[in-house]
Amino acid sequence: MNNKNPQNNKILVVDDNPDNLGILFDYLTNSGFKILVALDGESALKRVESAHPDIILLDVMMPKIDGFEVCRRLKANPSAKDIPVIFMSALSETVNKVRGFRMGAVDYITKPIKQEEVLSRVQTHLTIRNLQKQLQDKTEELARINQNLESVVETRTKQLIDQEKTAIIGRLTQGIVHNLKNPIQTILAYKSLAEEKSKEISRETLLRYTQKMADSAQQMNQILDNLMYKSKMGSSGEIKPLDINEVLRKELDFWQANFQFYYKVEKQYLFDSNLPAIPLVYADLTQVFDNLIANALDAMWDRKEQKLTLVTRQDQEQIYIDFQDTGCGIPSEKIPLIFDPFYTTKSTHGEEPRSGEPTGTGLGLYSCTEILKSFSGKIIVTSEVDRGSTFTVVLPKKNS
Ligand SMILES: Nc1ncnc2c1ncn2[C@@H]1O[C@H](COP(=O)(O)OP(=O)(O)OP(=O)(O)O)[C@@H](O)[C@H]1O
Ligand SMILES: [Mg+2]
Repeated sequence: MNNKNPQNNKILVVDDNPDNLGILFDYLTNSGFKILVALDGESALKRVESAHPDIILLDVMMPKIDGFEVCRRLKANPSAKDIPVIFMSALSETVNKVRGFRMGAVDYITKPIKQEEVLSRVQTHLTIRNLQKQLQDKTEELARINQNLESVVETRTKQLIDQEKTAIIGRLTQGIVHNLKNPIQTILAYKSLAEEKSKEISRETLLRYTQKMADSAQQMNQILDNLMYKSKMGSSGEIKPLDINEVLRKELDFWQANFQFYYKVEKQYLFDSNLPAIPLVYADLTQVFDNLIANALDAMWDRKEQKLTLVTRQDQEQIYIDFQDTGCGIPSEKIPLIFDPFYTTKSTHGEEPRSGEPTGTGLGLYSCTEILKSFSGKIIVTSEVDRGSTFTVVLPKKNS
């Protein structure tokens, strides 16, 4: 439908007076519209069904079904209810106009009809109808785009959360590989020393060398045991009662492989040894711990004092795990934002960070809260800029 091009618009004129019909037919046809006519209400309704006019000029006073009733039926018909109806009648009293509008008419023309008036009203209502239609089309299009966008964002977020998981595993694996290299190099060094100096060294020195080699082998064994434990526990994804202190201790063993954690951070662990085991998924719980430890390390990366305090505690209903750091802290107005997906103050992957500067995607805390939600858990934050932050994981005991 195009208002600038009247021949595209069909007008249905309904009047039981053939003279009136004739006048309107001639005038509106000359103005470029396509005109359909009906001499009574019954045939008007049929015409609407078959021809779908863009606008209807409807006489009020007609035998059998009058204009009001025709209009009522049109408005009750889903396929016709949006067609604008303009009443035409000699009855100029307000009461009839009100009744017409109540029936759903958009306008009212009083007979005798003035041709310019008909033309201008028809054009106005066609324009309004066009705009309404365009608006509706645009709204539908926007709703479709929005839905598409939502599903794209959802899929992408899932992918990024997976990448985030892999990134943190990568961070740990790098350290583990590094830690395995250390004892291997120690063993190799003592082996060559023993070979080179086999003639000149005493039996005691040789024993000391072999002891060093045995210690290193033992260290490797410990690392591999931990790895096997993690892969065994982490692969099942099943919910089982977990000793939170034990899971945390094992995870901290892995963090020992991280340079900053091992060499730069002072660590203090205050664990309540009477925590009850609670049903959780191992891989989920360690992911939350790893994210919070990684954030604490990142917050302290360029600080002189780097201290991480981990506390496990409980009350009647809940278990609390505090991750307390002496990092940069978070301004109070920013705290509500940190759980939003993609909120990060770190350089994002892809940017060139300063040497050693942490990078992030802003999905860590978002995935932590999503994970904890499924166990009715949550994270509480307290923080002071330049002093440090405490992130507390709260888990209900109810299922224990
Ligand atoms: N311990 C903390 N101390 C100070 N700021 C923190 C701490 N933990 C989180 N934040 C702030 O919250 C933001 C969001 O943390 P989140 O873990 O969601 O993402 P990220 O660490 O930036 O990136 P990602 O975890 O995806 O690698 C961080 O960028 C940082 O600004
Ligand atoms: Mg993070």
